[in-house]
Amino acid sequence: MQAVRFHDYGPADVLRLEEVPRPQPGDGEVLVRVHSAGVNPIDWKARAGYLQAFMPLELPHIPGFDFAGTVAEVGAAVLEFAQGDEVFGRGSGTYAEYAVAPAATLAPKPAAVSFDQAATLAVGGVTAWAGLFEAAKLEAGQRLLVHGGAGGVGSFAVQLGHWKGAQVIGTASARNLDLMRALGADEVIDYGAVRFEDVLHDLDVVFDTVGGEVTGSNEALGADPAKVNADPEGEGWFLKLRVTNPAEVEALMTIDAYQEFLRTL
Ligand SMILES: NC(=O)c1ccc[n+]([C@@H]2O[C@H](COP(=O)([O-])OP(=O)(O)OC[C@H]3O[C@@H](n4cnc5c(N)ncnc54)[C@H](OP(=O)(O)O)[C@@H]3O)[C@@H](O)[C@H]2O)c1
Repeated sequence: MQAVRFHDYGPADVLRLEEVPRPQPGDGEVLVRVHSAGVNPIDWKARAGYLQAFMPLELPHIPGFDFAGTVAEVGAAVLEFAQGDEVFGRGSGTYAEYAVAPAATLAPKPAAVSFDQAATLAVGGVTAWAGLFEAAKLEAGQRLLVHGGAGGVGSFAVQLGHWKGAQVIGTASARNLDLMRALGADEVIDYGAVRFEDVLHDLDVVFDTVGGEVTGSNEALGADPAKVNADPEGEGWFLKLRVTNPAEVEALMTIDAYQEFLRTL
């Protein structure tokens, strides 16, 4: 099969389109003919070598986690899927014609959702869900700020917050304000023109997918932080909760807990 892979960590030009053996599904695993692969920041962070400390890769490596496709083969002990089923979820090496995933990380693709759409759900969608509902315990009527509300994760956070009945405020560049409104944001802020910390107050949950200076400015809102970095350079996503259980926050701040959290996605 054809796959994109890299032999050494580095910039985008280490990626090569190559002929490689088709992977075999092990016990409890499913081989999927990939129709669409989602592309996420973690893919390039891993390729650049930023995640080596806690996610060392066997090289050469085929990047990609997000995907949607058709079941080609099931491994032993897989009862929930059969050849030909349309599925989506989180696998590994999804920048390829075929990829393997544990059956537990796959779900049937709804007919109304395209392969392209489904291939965005497992990383961006699940991260937003886990952050808002499992970590922040967002409730209807609360005021939610989503930093990066037009991004891969933030666009789901805006939609899920709206669906939950929260009052959603999103930040993005001017070109993406209408998009956030269309996704359900009640209020939008152009981060290039307005300092959010000057105009916002009484927030219940701040979901920060941007980090850096934004994270520093969140402090001005007076919240207790829960920090989950996606890479050691501090540019990862940052989830900041105003109303939360301190023990939960502490747990999220350790790298072990973060890995644990990643495994749930
Ligand atoms: N489980 C995890 O830990 C996990 C999972 C998924 C993602 N992540 C991390 O989360 C981060 C975001 O991922 P993503 O897929 O959403 O990335 P993305 O699609 O690139 O979106 C990032 C968004 O940030 C916005 N942005 C940039 N600067 C901003 C600022 N100063 N204020 C407000 N918004 C700003 C951009 O908006 P404009 O285009 O409008 O400028 C862009 O839409 C990445 O660091 C990724 O690695 C972590």
